[in-house]
Amino acid sequence: MKILISGTPGTGKTSTAKLLAKKINAKYIDLNKLAERNKWFIGWDNERKVKIMDTEKVSTFLSEIKGDIVVDTHIPSAGPPNADYVFILRIHPETLLERLKNKGYREEKALENAQAEILDVCLIEALENFRGELVWEINASKVKTEEIVSTMLKIMNGEVKERERIDWLSLICEEGSLEKFFKP
Ligand SMILES: Nc1ncnc2c1ncn2[C@@H]1O[C@H](COP(=O)(O)OP(=O)(O)O)[C@@H](O)[C@H]1O
Ligand SMILES: [Mg+2]
Repeated sequence: MKILISGTPGTGKTSTAKLLAKKINAKYIDLNKLAERNKWFIGWDNERKVKIMDTEKVSTFLSEIKGDIVVDTHIPSAGPPNADYVFILRIHPETLLERLKNKGYREEKALENAQAEILDVCLIEALENFRGELVWEINASKVKTEEIVSTMLKIMNGEVKERERIDWLSLICEEGSLEKFFKP
């Protein structure tokens, strides 16, 4: 079984993926660390000041692993192409902004990530790389890690039929906070 857990930075991937791996006795894999260890990078993104991961090398490696794995990455295209489940963690942009600031992100960087969350960037990349039926959004706002993992286990047991559809853009328009995230 290959499980991909993705989402905007700060949505709780690492906490959730580690707990899920423990519960189902699978190997937890942090893709940033895996790429660092093997020096799987193809360049430098000068705008974002981050190394550009060699997603092909990473995903090929993951696809060849035999045992059960839970993969933690904010880059869905780096995940195993033969994933059985792709979970995208979603967090209300206000909560995400607070979490990232608490994590020490600069205002500008926190805002950029909140905008990506509002615009479904991670979800879209997942849908571009995996069949839609494999991709499950999970609203992880105001929910404990235990509960998020329990939802994932229910999905894997076929107990969840209705898919959550997250639409932060409509919600923040209703809440009147659009201009907090996208300044004209
Ligand atoms: N379910 C949750 N409820 C509240 N805070 C959480 C939850 N999951 C994670 N956090 C906190 O949010 C921050 C980001 O979590 P982390 O697992 O590192 O996210 P990611 O790996 O997606 O960047 C951490 O400070 C973590 O303690
Ligand atoms: Mg993480």
